[in-house]
Amino acid sequence: MSTRTAIITGAAQGMGEAIAVRFADEDINVVLFDIRGKEALLEGVVKKVEAKGRKAFYFVGDVTVEKDIEDVVAKTVATYGGLDVMVANAGILQQRALIDSTTEDFNRIMGVNTLGVMLCYKHAARQMIKQGRGGRIIGACSISGKQGLPDVALYTASKFAVRGLTQTTALELQKYDITCNAYCPGMILTPMLAHPDDDKHGGLGSVVMMADNVRPGTKAAQPNVVAELVAYLIKPEAHFMTGQSISINGGLFFD
Ligand SMILES: NC(=O)c1ccc[n+]([C@@H]2O[C@H](COP(=O)([O-])OP(=O)(O)OC[C@H]3O[C@@H](n4cnc5c(N)ncnc54)[C@H](O)[C@@H]3O)[C@@H](O)[C@H]2O)c1
Repeated sequence: MSTRTAIITGAAQGMGEAIAVRFADEDINVVLFDIRGKEALLEGVVKKVEAKGRKAFYFVGDVTVEKDIEDVVAKTVATYGGLDVMVANAGILQQRALIDSTTEDFNRIMGVNTLGVMLCYKHAARQMIKQGRGGRIIGACSISGKQGLPDVALYTASKFAVRGLTQTTALELQKYDITCNAYCPGMILTPMLAHPDDDKHGGLGSVVMMADNVRPGTKAAQPNVVAELVAYLIKPEAHFMTGQSISINGGLFFD
């Protein structure tokens, strides 16, 4: 297999960063996509990938803007000659009771977590179909894409939608040898779970876990745990897995 190319959104930190750095262990060049203001972090991730002997560049954009997704795909193809893997990882979390949630909250969360994934799936698929050599499309879902938790109604709705998008995309792309799957993590220790009062309650993620009423004793994991699952999804043998939203949650929830 010749060198492949992957785009990873939300790649400045957290799971996106871990996936990019893990992909550098494979024969893959990576394109790191994240929002304005994350340039310094993105430069750091580029250096980590390059230290493993792979090529990388970053692209500043917003997953809710279709032109930005079209442009990152075009620049990836112009730079590396094609696109083989899309990881639609970018996402945002807001903890707020349903009765306090607004239309603006809904549009913002659905915009990043669902529209953003849809646009990544769509433009990756178009490019991969044109190339005619298959591909791997992967999205960030969540335990919240499988089961409701308190105070995250809009986030939960956005992640249930990712599961639906993933199943339909998988069916539509099967004939092109393109798989589409999503990962559904439980509590992963990234900046997404950070709260100013974490130190008072047991460290990173502790406040979010209390607010979500997560079972006491529930374990959290580092982002590399999820990156390893994503690395499986891009292996040749993973051709037989498609349309799945895969739970990786420390036993917090069983399908
Ligand atoms: N951390 C967890 O416990 C957890 C659990 C389940 C699912 N997830 C999901 O996994 C994915 C990664 O989460 P994480 O914990 O690494 O989050 P994170 O907050 O650490 O990182 C998310 C990244 O996405 C970027 N981003 C946000 N909005 C964007 C936009 N409009 N366009 C481009 N980039 C944007 C952010 O700048 C950030 O760098 C998310 O989709 C999240 O919902 C996280």
